[in-house]
Amino acid sequence: MRYPLSLAALALTLAACSQHPTTTAPTPSGRLAATPPMGWNSWNKFGCNIDEELIERTADAMVSSGMRDAGYKYVNIDDCWMAKTRDAQGNLQADPTRFSHGIRAIAEYVHARGLKLGVYSSAGTATCQGLPASLDHEVADANKFAEWGVDYLKYDNCNNQKRPAIERYTAMSKALQATGRPIVFSLCEWGENKSWEWGRQVGGMLWRTTGDISDRWNSMIDILDKQVGLEKYSSPGGWNDPDMLEVGNGRMTFNEYVAHFSLWALLNAPLIAGNDLRSMSDSTRFILTNRSVIAVDQDWGGQQGTRLRDDPATNTQIWVKPMRNGGRAVVLLNRGSSATSISVATADLGLTPASSYQAIDLWAHTAQTVLGVLQAGVPPHGAAMFVIGKK
Ligand code: GLA
Repeated sequence: MRYPLSLAALALTLAACSQHPTTTAPTPSGRLAATPPMGWNSWNKFGCNIDEELIERTADAMVSSGMRDAGYKYVNIDDCWMAKTRDAQGNLQADPTRFSHGIRAIAEYVHARGLKLGVYSSAGTATCQGLPASLDHEVADANKFAEWGVDYLKYDNCNNQKRPAIERYTAMSKALQATGRPIVFSLCEWGENKSWEWGRQVGGMLWRTTGDISDRWNSMIDILDKQVGLEKYSSPGGWNDPDMLEVGNGRMTFNEYVAHFSLWALLNAPLIAGNDLRSMSDSTRFILTNRSVIAVDQDWGGQQGTRLRDDPATNTQIWVKPMRNGGRAVVLLNRGSSATSISVATADLGLTPASSYQAIDLWAHTAQTVLGVLQAGVPPHGAAMFVIGKK
């Protein structure tokens, strides 16, 4: 009898190993957020104007647009999915009009398309929009999420009664883990209590570093500036989150969105699209499905991207990220309002010394030989992005 049992154990071990071919620790966060999570969230474009039809058509569009195949996986319903009151048993329930078939039905719909479902709550007495939230209801709510088939929880910070953040986020983390269902735990504490310092310990897999982004160049740049110095906190299993993408929402230019997407990828940021996927323009889809840029985001070379040079006189910056293969991803950022040429010496990039390198332009999809200086013309409020390495 012992022989077949140990064979079964061996098979289990082999199965587990084949799911984790790298050195990723087999912790919940290691499995679920081994790379920065990718998906979509309703808030940036739709706010509270959401219903089950929107969520299901968005899942359809994620498939038909090629976004799923490019790596986007989570379809996340933000604030306002819940009814104004809990049910007679004290459980959260979906808004009876806008989500009349309930969250479980949406989860099934999304899962049938090879995608995952996310929902939202707050570590407070009410959400930011004043609806029921999870403080002191952590176990009941986590159990509901698991029962419905939810795969991701964004957990906000409104109406927190000034109770200690670590306690509030730990309570939900433990409740999620106790369900036994793998659920990505996204801390949305806005960096108020420096969640990058403790987010990983409390089971967070991504943590917002700032207040909310808006669909404006200055908002995006302001958030970028606040990422400097946070690089040491991010690594597989737990990621700095500079907030969701605004690409395609219409108040930035094409070049500004290219810069936004390039920079978020360089930062190993979660790539959570925030636009209307059902009516996306070709140029928006071109940005969001750029596989070379996404590959930079999903690559771990030991550190997220950092600011190598800030030149306020010319309004330009150089951002660099080590790649697993020894190369470097580089963003040349023009923050100014006229076109300019930006250059950086290859010797400053931390590459293994060589007489020449090959650089791939990740937006033009062209290759060039670089002898000592990487240089590009960059449009106003725009960026060029390269991966450079040995030839
Ligand atoms: C906060 C969060 C946003 C969004 C809204 C919803 O502002 O930071 O990302 O979830 O709440 O009300």
